[in-house]
Amino acid sequence: MQEKIQEIHQQVDVFVIENKDQLEAFRIAYVGRKSVIGELFDGLKNVPAEQRREIGQQLNGLKDFAQNKFNEMQALLEASSENAVSIEFDLTLPVIPQENGTLHPLSVVRARIIEIFEKMGFNVSDGPEIETDFYNFTALNFAENHPAREMQDTFFIEKKGGNVADDVLLRTHTSNVQIRLMQQKQPPLRSIMPGRVYRNEAISARAHCLFHQVEGLYIDKNVGFKDLKDTLYHFAKEMFGKDTKVRYRPSYFPFTEPSAEIDITCLICKGVGCNVCKYTGWVEIAGSGMVDPNVLENCGIDSKEYTGFAFGMGIERITMLKYGIKDLRLFTENDVRFLRQFEGV
Ligand code: PHE
Repeated sequence: MQEKIQEIHQQVDVFVIENKDQLEAFRIAYVGRKSVIGELFDGLKNVPAEQRREIGQQLNGLKDFAQNKFNEMQALLEASSENAVSIEFDLTLPVIPQENGTLHPLSVVRARIIEIFEKMGFNVSDGPEIETDFYNFTALNFAENHPAREMQDTFFIEKKGGNVADDVLLRTHTSNVQIRLMQQKQPPLRSIMPGRVYRNEAISARAHCLFHQVEGLYIDKNVGFKDLKDTLYHFAKEMFGKDTKVRYRPSYFPFTEPSAEIDITCLICKGVGCNVCKYTGWVEIAGSGMVDPNVLENCGIDSKEYTGFAFGMGIERITMLKYGIKDLRLFTENDVRFLRQFEGV
């Protein structure tokens, strides 16, 4: 009898119940009154009286075991059949369109600029947007009466009334990070510095009071103008394609000497002449030059030992050229019809 109980216990344990038919078969075999377990109860009267109590307990255990398994599986099957109803769906219904987010074109281009310069060994640095005049102008060799300091260009936050270098303003270019970097670290330095800049300009298709620049700085022994030309030439080809022509035009910045502006062939008209390039066939993409020795000395770098170049470019300008965008205001209007065009870019 005890062996029989164990055997049936085993059978109950391994019995597979995956549907209602199997559940019913299980019920008939092990739960109903005429089941094998029911028969065992009937046989209990033939068990010798002194064993009856123990065997009776074992039989009750087996009965509960089978009953519990039945209850559990019944509940499970019922629950899953309810689910089965709820996941039935109508394949003829039109789908709900899935809206994918897009990266802002300025983010796409900033990431690409960083990628190109990182491959040339530049790292990325950051600096504050709220600056003192010292970092934005004075340390960069701007004479005290330089017109760029005047209210029309610069958003001042606080005029101290004493030393102009202490005035607080919104940075007008990312060149402030050059200074901070040179103050913090001795050369060799090779870094680019993307960020927001602010200028007090009326908003139009060509000008905005908020835009983005990427500054670059390379300081080491024996860095020459050739290095500047090579670096930006490589950048222009990587960014705009290998057929892009690059030219360097003499220019002036207080913090570089000599200075050059960098032009590329107009991508909108392919150099033929259009209103974007003002019919010259060329468009400016960056300002650059050899870092003025005064600037190096202002930052505690020995200008007899070290030389370097710097450059600064507008991310909006690069993005407009790359994607043929003709109005700066599109970047800040958040019109999804514009932004959606950059899906997957
Ligand atoms: N800071 C300059 C500007 O905003 C660009 C520049 C950066 C020029 C570095 C030379 C070197 O116009």
